[in-house]
Amino acid sequence: MAKVAFLGLGVMGYPMAGHLLKHGHEVTVYNRSSAKAEAWVAQHGGRRCATPAEAATGQEIVFCCVGNDDDLRQVVLGDQGAVHGMAANTVFVDHTTASADVARELAQALDDKHISFIDAPVSGGQAGAENGVLTVMAGGDAEVFAAVKPVIDCYAKSAVLMGDSGAGQLTKMVNQICIAGIVQGLSEALSFAQNAGLDGEKVVQVISKGAAQSWQMENRYQTMLKDQYDFGFAVDWMRKDLGIALNEARRNGSTLPLTALVDQFYAEVQAMGGNRWDTSSLMARQKKCQQQ
Ligand SMILES: NC(=O)c1ccc[n+]([C@@H]2O[C@H](COP(=O)([O-])OP(=O)(O)OC[C@H]3O[C@@H](n4cnc5c(N)ncnc54)[C@H](OP(=O)(O)O)[C@@H]3O)[C@@H](O)[C@H]2O)c1
Repeated sequence: MAKVAFLGLGVMGYPMAGHLLKHGHEVTVYNRSSAKAEAWVAQHGGRRCATPAEAATGQEIVFCCVGNDDDLRQVVLGDQGAVHGMAANTVFVDHTTASADVARELAQALDDKHISFIDAPVSGGQAGAENGVLTVMAGGDAEVFAAVKPVIDCYAKSAVLMGDSGAGQLTKMVNQICIAGIVQGLSEALSFAQNAGLDGEKVVQVISKGAAQSWQMENRYQTMLKDQYDFGFAVDWMRKDLGIALNEARRNGSTLPLTALVDQFYAEVQAMGGNRWDTSSLMARQKKCQQQ
């Protein structure tokens, strides 16, 4: 069993850290606002710490799932960051969805102190985290990844090393580019079905057995047909992710016209008050456009 820390007990981190403890690892936790850490310790046990550095002290692996690049830099390198508690030959595993640049930057900064860094963004949403069946895409050193993978497996159904530092984040960008196009297509298709006077439920029951099937269709069509958008990954987070992907695309010469368009559609959803609606709320924008 390993001695581990978990930084960031949000929608994703809270259940992920819980799986570590349930599998017998010795867990310290840190959360910026202390209420979540207090609730976590009351529910699971473990030890609550006041700073990332304190949580990391004496631990072999430090896991993290915070918001964006700046948040990540703060919990790793800030005045009270994990780096100040971590010893040589330990590993920092980051599950935040962030840029490939910040992954490479932190890998370099930690390498100077003989600490390894694995970028390991996840897919599978809140349900995946709660049920311990996330998909993890990682970047970093192969030997280090092999050493931490059995611990990651506590909350993952799949964890695969994709290449050097940053490769996990690049793979997550591919994931988000796919989702953007699929959800917009699904929004257009379902509203078309409704406008055509078809029974949307029956349409999906039929076409989901064929080539149009997708995770988004299976998991979101019922709520999209009912105009309900409170089921997971928020529009604000998606815009962060698409911004990261569009930046990377400018650098590597990819043209992402559909992704750029859908990003603007999500900006319209935000203007409708949908910052915290889930990503299937492109359907709400579609309906609004049709009414105009
Ligand atoms: N939710 C999903 O379905 C999903 C799926 C895949 C990937 N992700 C990615 O996973 C990451 C976390 O998502 P989430 O849904 O768990 O978000 P969340 O519920 O908002 O949690 C974010 C966590 O990060 C902490 N945090 C943020 N900025 C910080 C800072 N500067 N210093 C210290 N702590 C900070 C927050 O602390 P406080 O509690 O104090 O605010 C909170 O614990 C994001 O990068 C997101 O894109 C999310």
